[in-house]
Amino acid sequence: MIRIQSGALSEQSDWLQLRRELWPDCPPQEHQAEIRQMLAEPQRYGCWLAYGADGVAAGLAEAALRHDYVNGTESSPVVFLEGIYVAPESRRQGIAQRLIEQVAAWGRQQGCVELASDTSLDNLPSQTLHHALGFEETERVVYFKKRL
Ligand SMILES: CC(C)(COP(=O)(O)OP(=O)(O)OC[C@H]1O[C@@H](n2cnc3c(N)ncnc32)[C@H](O)[C@@H]1OP(=O)(O)O)[C@@H](O)C(=O)NCCC(=O)NCCS
Repeated sequence: MIRIQSGALSEQSDWLQLRRELWPDCPPQEHQAEIRQMLAEPQRYGCWLAYGADGVAAGLAEAALRHDYVNGTESSPVVFLEGIYVAPESRRQGIAQRLIEQVAAWGRQQGCVELASDTSLDNLPSQTLHHALGFEETERVVYFKKRL
C-alpha cells in the first residue's frame, strides 16, 4: 500500500534524502535552498513523496509551472516534471505512475493543459516510463555554451 503526500516542512529530511539520491552531484546546501524556495512558492512549485506500508519514503516527484517557452509545447504556462525518482527496491510497482498522476492533477488545478518533461538521451528506463504513461516525444536537442 503506497501513500502519496505533498512535500511539506515535516517531510523535509525524506525529501532531502531522495533528492540526494536523484541528484548526487548537487551540494546538500543547494538542495536545502531549493526545497525552501519550493515551499515558499506553492503556486509555482509542487512536490510529492511516496511512502511504502513500512513508512519509508520510496519516491519523489517535483514539478514547476513554467511560463517561459518549453520545447514542443503549445500552451503557457505548462506544468513541467522537474524530477522523478523511485528508490531501487521499490521500482516497477507503479509508484512513478502514481506520483506523475498527482503532478498532472496539480497542473490541471493550476489551469494547465499540457504536462511536459525531459530526460537524457541515454536514460532509456525513463523514456520507456514516459511512453508508458502517455507522453509523446517532441524534440531532441543539443545544448551548447561559450565562455564570455
Ligand atoms: C524511471 C523511474 C522513476 C521509474 O519508476 P517506477 O516507480 O519503477 O515506475 P512505474 O512502476 O510507475 O512504471 C510504470 C511503467 O513505466 C515503464 N517502466 C518503468 N521503469 C521501467 C524500466 N526500468 N524499464 C522498462 N520499462 C519501465 C513500464 O511500462 C512500467 O509499467 P510495468 O511495470 O507495468 O511494465 C525509476 O526507475 C527511477 O527512479 N530511476 C532513476 C531516476 C530517473 O532516471 N529518473 C528519471 C529522470 S527524468
